[in-house]
Amino acid sequence: MNTIGIDAGGTLTKIAYTDGNNELQVRHYPSNDLAQVAAFINAHPEIQILGMTGGRAEQLNLLLNDSLTRHSLVEFEATFRGVNYQLKRQEGGLERCIVANIGSGTSIHYKNGEAYTRVSGTGIGGGTLVGLSALMTGEYDYHEISSLAATGQRKNIDLMVADIFEGMEVPAPLDPDLTASNFGKVGLKPPQDYVKADILATTMGLVGEVVSTLSIQLAEQYQVEHIVYIGTTLDHNTKLRDVITSYTKLKKKTAVFLGDEGFSGAIGALLYAKEQVSCV
Ligand SMILES: Nc1ncnc2c1ncn2[C@@H]1O[C@H](COP(=O)(O)OP(=O)(O)OP(=O)(O)O)[C@@H](O)[C@H]1O
Ligand SMILES: [Mg+2]
Repeated sequence: MNTIGIDAGGTLTKIAYTDGNNELQVRHYPSNDLAQVAAFINAHPEIQILGMTGGRAEQLNLLLNDSLTRHSLVEFEATFRGVNYQLKRQEGGLERCIVANIGSGTSIHYKNGEAYTRVSGTGIGGGTLVGLSALMTGEYDYHEISSLAATGQRKNIDLMVADIFEGMEVPAPLDPDLTASNFGKVGLKPPQDYVKADILATTMGLVGEVVSTLSIQLAEQYQVEHIVYIGTTLDHNTKLRDVITSYTKLKKKTAVFLGDEGFSGAIGALLYAKEQVSCV
């Protein structure tokens, strides 16, 4: 492990490297404690070359030993390299697709062969998920939030199209099973206590539906079938994956998950650093 890739994001700093068996290894640290990342690097003197990307890379740089060789690249290029590598490993590659990176916020790209363009984004992302969840339920821990959400129900909180018609036939082209208003039932009923898991499941619904709606519109605009969803917000998050998968499928597009999907940027930075070394 003399070369590692680092993606220092707004919330998490991701690290990727290959071990002695040439297996990819990944790990992450909170970006509000970059000293932990520096400690990991300092504890491994065999690390000499760093590929670096992400909004907090410069801050991390200040904590690192001058003797390390750095190769920096912008985040979208690192993500593109990582996604390409992961896609080839898994699907044999995709020529054209939409890539939605659900990080602290969400950034959406269009990949056309070797061209990669940022086409949209929204502030609704993983930060929103944890922020709203914490404000509404007092749960701050991401893993607690995602595992509780997996057991929750949305039907007491979301207003569905079918609810608006209250048993009457829903006229085309409306779909009774679609969400008419995320959290929309709450304001229509007398105040009551809601189950924590249900609030968290509904928050996953809100974030997942906003991100997939935007991504699907772009897939329609660019006439592609596949939407690759990445970002650590998907990590161990069955509820969010289910929301995204089913909504994307309903709109006749295919959701693709890569495995290690939070690490595309770090993997891209690792590949870039290795390439720079082999060019010398
Ligand atoms: N262990 C964890 N601690 C905190 N958040 C986590 C954890 N695991 C998953 N998450 C989720 O992942 C989100 C961060 O995703 P990601 O690491 O892709 O973003 P980032 O790269 O830090 O942000 P950005 O790319 O917007 O700068 C968090 O907002 C949270 O929803
Ligand atoms: Mg990121």
